Amino acid sequence: MLSTGRIPKHIGIIMDGNGRWAELRGLPRIEGHRRGAERVKEITRTASELGIKVLTLYAFSIENWQRPSLEVITLMKLLEFYLKKQLSEFMEKGIVFKAIGERWRLPEDIQDFIRKTEEMTASNKGMTLIAALSYSGRNEIVRAVKKVINAGIKPEELTEESFSSYLDTAGCLAPDLIIRTSGEMRLSNFMIWQGAYSELYFTETLWPDFTKDEFMLAIQDYQQRDRRFGAISAGANAP
Ligand code: IPE
Ligand code: IPE
Ligand code: MG
Repeated sequence: MLSTGRIPKHIGIIMDGNGRWAELRGLPRIEGHRRGAERVKEITRTASELGIKVLTLYAFSIENWQRPSLEVITLMKLLEFYLKKQLSEFMEKGIVFKAIGERWRLPEDIQDFIRKTEEMTASNKGMTLIAALSYSGRNEIVRAVKKVINAGIKPEELTEESFSSYLDTAGCLAPDLIIRTSGEMRLSNFMIWQGAYSELYFTETLWPDFTKDEFMLAIQDYQQRDRRFGAISAGANAP
């Protein structure tokens, strides 16, 4: 059972394990990506129904460009297919779609479709779905530093808050919870700045097997956490 009071506002998911899911079944890796895309739909729907404000899905890292070109091309095709299919659901559920990352590296038709989807969903009132595509946290920070320099900001004017407004996630709350599937316990360059105080949840489950129930378990686990942000618990005895 989920307690309604402590639903995380922003959840980030590092969707990992598609390749291993396929390899375990003697299937080509891309089959795992295809099944993974089905989970994306299910988890997005669940998150929006739970009243989560922002869901960020790490779908493709800058480092992932190093993969064999056939895998990259098929992933891009899958992304285009998914986006085109989901647009009607975004409109129906009032989802605002945004993409973060070096989008100029994506195939041009996908860039166009992302722009169109962002425009069409911009005035929706429901959950914000952020797709991290050709995204990496360090790269985002360096791009932000370049924007700060170009804007002529003086060192004494720069604060953590103002710096955040130069990141791709400008105006968006930091993730309360970051989930990573597939048993790997690392961030792999996901939200390096924004994740400073995120609660982390790792599961052995491979992404194509990450169901709505597993998602609920992660949120339930989050609800037991004591987030201190460097201070002491509200209920703790003073020395
Ligand atoms: C995650 O699954 C999807 C992407 C990174 C695009 P992987 O493709 O990394 O699957 P594994 O980790 O090899 O099993
Ligand atoms: C992280 O997974 C990136 C995404 C899920 C998009 P990877 O499979 O690329 O990460 P590593 O190589 O295991 O660190
Ligand atoms: Mg992986």
